[in-house]
Amino acid sequence: MGSKLELVKYQNFWCRSFRLKDVIHYQKHFIAQDTDIFIASLPKTGTTWLKSLLFTIINRFNPDHQPLNKNSPLLNHNPHELVYFLDHGIYGGKPPLPSPQQLQQLPSPRLLQTHVPYASFPKSIKTSSCKIVYIARNPLDTLVSQWHWHLKLIKNWVGDLDEFQPPSIEDFFKEFCLGRFPSGPYFDHVTEFFKQSLQQPNKVMFLKYEDLKGDHVVSHVKKMAEFVGFPFSDHEEDEGVINDIIELCSFNNLKELEINKTGMMRKLIDNKNFFRKGEVGDWANHLTPSMVEEINILMQEKFGDIGLSFQV
Ligand code: A3P
Repeated sequence: MGSKLELVKYQNFWCRSFRLKDVIHYQKHFIAQDTDIFIASLPKTGTTWLKSLLFTIINRFNPDHQPLNKNSPLLNHNPHELVYFLDHGIYGGKPPLPSPQQLQQLPSPRLLQTHVPYASFPKSIKTSSCKIVYIARNPLDTLVSQWHWHLKLIKNWVGDLDEFQPPSIEDFFKEFCLGRFPSGPYFDHVTEFFKQSLQQPNKVMFLKYEDLKGDHVVSHVKKMAEFVGFPFSDHEEDEGVINDIIELCSFNNLKELEINKTGMMRKLIDNKNFFRKGEVGDWANHLTPSMVEEINILMQEKFGDIGLSFQV
């Protein structure tokens, strides 16, 4: 199991060894369509949340997908079942996921997700007129969230934590600072998408987890809907549809759904692990002042020049 979670360096990023084969196939064989919408992110930065929001936004004209309809698929599916993850499973031929051929035939717009860094995207994503929505989260909360996730993976896959020495937060922190983070280095991944969003503003939208958590969430969701070509009408705004969607996809709502309390994600992990705390600032409960200082210095070094900052 240790080796299953092992990170291997591939094309300048760290990839889980069990995913590498699928990632290479996806890079080689995936063909993007101009109408595609991609969710790009590092793990633990709000991918599940963004999947819920975008899935609801683009499907809201389907009578079965009305945000508050009791038949909304989000109410009885984990968001990861509704938005396919390209880096693992599909190119490994794992039913019930679609095969690569079936993937090509999904109705448009296809909403798909990847953790692969921009530089390693399949060529057709870069050359097509698709849209990419990237979500970033401050490094401190990302690191802490990933640490908890890692412990859950070990527990789910090994059973008893006592039989396997789980990494301490200190070990995890050291690795993070050295760049060893799934799909990382963290700073390279975020910087690359941020720069792309400046160079290609019609193609790449850069969102922050902290902004979605803040007071201006409505305007961020509105912009995102416009960006992917599903703007809210004045009538919808008056009817409160944006708030309904935000409420449906909120942490508290999703976390309490039966499917997310008791279901399992492709026999890999309990759905409940996708919903831990959902807060900004949980890092304060885990990291020492010197760790925070070191990451703040890295943030300044890596993000200062490009004008990127996070509210932590
Ligand atoms: P925490 O571990 O800090 O609680 P990802 O979806 O990329 O794996 O990210 C998981 C993180 O997002 C977890 O953070 C999880 O609790 C949080 N999260 C999941 N759904 C959320 C939601 N609807 N709103 C806010 N945060 C959410």
